[in-house]
This record gives sequence, structure tokens and C-alpha cells, in this order.
Amino acid sequence: MAKKFIADVTVGGRRVFVRNDFNVPLNPAGEITDDTRIQAALPTFRHLLDNGASIVCSSHLGRPKGKAVAELSLAPVARRLGELLGKKVLFCSETVGAKAEKAKARLRPGQVLMLENLRFHPGETLNDPAFAAGLASGIDLYVDDAFGACHRAHASIDEITRHVPLAVAGFLLRKEIDFLTLAAENPPDDYLVILGGAKVSDKLPLLEHLLTQADAILIGGAMAYTFLKAEGMDVGASRVENECLELCRDLRRKADERGVRFLLPCDHIVACRIEPNVTLRIVRPGEGIPGEMMGLDIGPETVEAFRAEIGRARLIFWNGPMGVFEVDAFSGGTMKIAAALAASAATTIVGGGDSLAAVNQAGVADRISHISTGGGAALEFLSGNQLPGIAALTEA
Ligand code: 3PG
Repeated sequence: MAKKFIADVTVGGRRVFVRNDFNVPLNPAGEITDDTRIQAALPTFRHLLDNGASIVCSSHLGRPKGKAVAELSLAPVARRLGELLGKKVLFCSETVGAKAEKAKARLRPGQVLMLENLRFHPGETLNDPAFAAGLASGIDLYVDDAFGACHRAHASIDEITRHVPLAVAGFLLRKEIDFLTLAAENPPDDYLVILGGAKVSDKLPLLEHLLTQADAILIGGAMAYTFLKAEGMDVGASRVENECLELCRDLRRKADERGVRFLLPCDHIVACRIEPNVTLRIVRPGEGIPGEMMGLDIGPETVEAFRAEIGRARLIFWNGPMGVFEVDAFSGGTMKIAAALAASAATTIVGGGDSLAAVNQAGVADRISHISTGGGAALEFLSGNQLPGIAALTEA
């Protein structure tokens, strides 16, 4: 738990640096297609503005590798933040140096200045002390509200806390820590985890850790086919990580030993190609997937089995879709699981960009207890790892 919290410190008259995670999806025209992360940051901005602070904020956007990349400028984010706050957000095309210093010095209480994409500077990902000192120059208080980036030991997350008089967590970070701590440290009985998405390799450390905590684990999405192949099922042309087969067998064995219910899909929606009007087939329990076909969604019996688990859970964490939900033909499983979560009496936590898009597509986002703004960060938190951004605030 972060030691200090924004609501416990005086902010009036202070020049405050707010680190956000405004790594938002953009379409080819450079328009923001989902502003959830900007919306989620508003309570901290409003608190600071209502209490007479001036705000210097910034974020990373994409992975520009230490160089300015015009398509990854934060300028559209500054405009969107201004619309949501109902006030102009000033913008500086530099992060450190003379131009940024001047812009900071001119800032008055009640004003917001956004600095350009932090990753345009090579010092950001290198956790460079000189870059961090430049960001901290003229700053009285540092607020970390970038939960989604707290698993990165980068200059604006970690090193900066050693160059400011005071470093605290913002409202968004605090809320994320509170909800995820519930799952990571003190889960109730009947803790259910639903994992999906493409790659099992990304989730192996998490799965290993969850075996000590969860009562049931449901696996969907492409990652299920590596488990199913490991159990000897014919998975046709489904996506499989052959290098993980032994690890999958090992996880299943451990789940059985520990009495964790570990459910894989028992039936499948399959097709030869991922296309809207392609011919679909349901592969029933006990059947194999024909050689040229891929599993692209969970089938109706799997949905029922997963629903039954959702119905008996008291805490549910969901990360990763059950199929290729971006294509209507393969979205049924993911949409039904989203609806089941929304209808459940359990505390429900959803994390990760795809899962967020899925609950939005299902129209149930307002019936989920907590939608985490972190993908990788939430998974690392739930794997029991100390996140550098949270550790830095604790030490600060
Ligand atoms: C995310 O979208 O998960 C965070 O913003 C972190 O981005 P990164 O993986 O590029 O560090």
C-alpha cells in the first residue's frame, strides 16, 4: 500500500506533477477510440484544481523508443482532457529543457499543462536520474496516478520520486490498489479467475501464483488450445504454443493436487478463417477439431459450465476474451461471460484493454465492480509481484 495519498496532503498553491497512463488506443486518423483511461484520471485533476493547485501532467503513449514520433504525440490527449475538464489544457512539445521550464514557470493555480510523450526522451525507459531531475524541476508535489504503468521502473514513475519534496498516490492509483489488493492478498472463499486471450506464455507466472489463491480457474481464448493439446486433444489449426505444453500439463497437475477447479472449454466454435461471413461449426464435447479449422470461441456447453462457476463465486477477476470477439461471429462466448459477470452478486474486477473493450461492447461496464485501467500491471500485481511504481511511493 502506498504510504501517502493525495487527499492527506496540502495541494493549494503547489505546482503538482501528475503522472498519468494516457496510453490510449488511436485509430489511423489519430483519433482516440477509447478514452476510459482519461475519464478514470479526472477525480485527481478535479481535486487538484478545486483546491488551488497548478498541474503539470504527462504520460507515455505507445513505444516510440526514445525518439519523437508525430503519430504518438500527446496533443490529441491534451485536447480530450480539456474537453472532459471543461477547461483549456496547455501543451508543451518538450518534456524537459528550457521550453518546458518556461511553460512550468508561467503556470498559475487552476491551470493544467501537459508535457509531450515521455517516451520521446530516451531517459524515460532508462530510468535516467538526469531526465527525472528535469521532470521534477520546479515541482512541489508528485502524484502517481498511472496504475497501468506502475510495473515499469521508468524515470517518471520510479526515479522522479527521489527528486521531488513529496510523492503520493492519486485517486485512481489508490482505487486500483484497494480493489486489486482484495484479490491479491485477501481473497474470500469462492475466488474465481477467468483468463483468456491469445498467449498462455504471458500468463504462466500468474497462473502458477493463482493456484495458491483461487478456488476455480476458467480458461478461454486461444490460450485454451495449448492446454487442450497438452491433454491430447486434436486442436486442428488452432493457435498453440508448443513450447508451453509441458508447463501446461504441470499446471493442471498442480491444480488437481491443490483442489483448484480448472476448467477448459469442452466445446468450440470453429472455422477455417477469421472472417465475418465464414462458415462456422460447433465442435461438441469429446470431438476433435478438424485439421484445417481453428477454435475461435467457446461453445454453448462451455458457456453454461462457466456461468455455473460465475454463479457460485464471491470474487471474480477476468482478464482476456474467450474468443475473437472483434468479429461478431466469434463474439458470443465473450459477450455471454461479460453478461454473466454483470448479473453476478460477486465483487467483479476486469483488467486489460481487450477485456475492457469486451465489457463495453456487451454494454455492461457500469455493472462491473471495478474495471482496472492496467493490463500488464494488474496481472503483475495479482502475480504477487511488487510493482516498482508502488514501491517507489512507499519508499518516498
Ligand atoms: C499498458 O497499456 O499496458 C500500459 O500503458 C503500459 O504500456 P507498455 O506495455 O508500453 O509499458
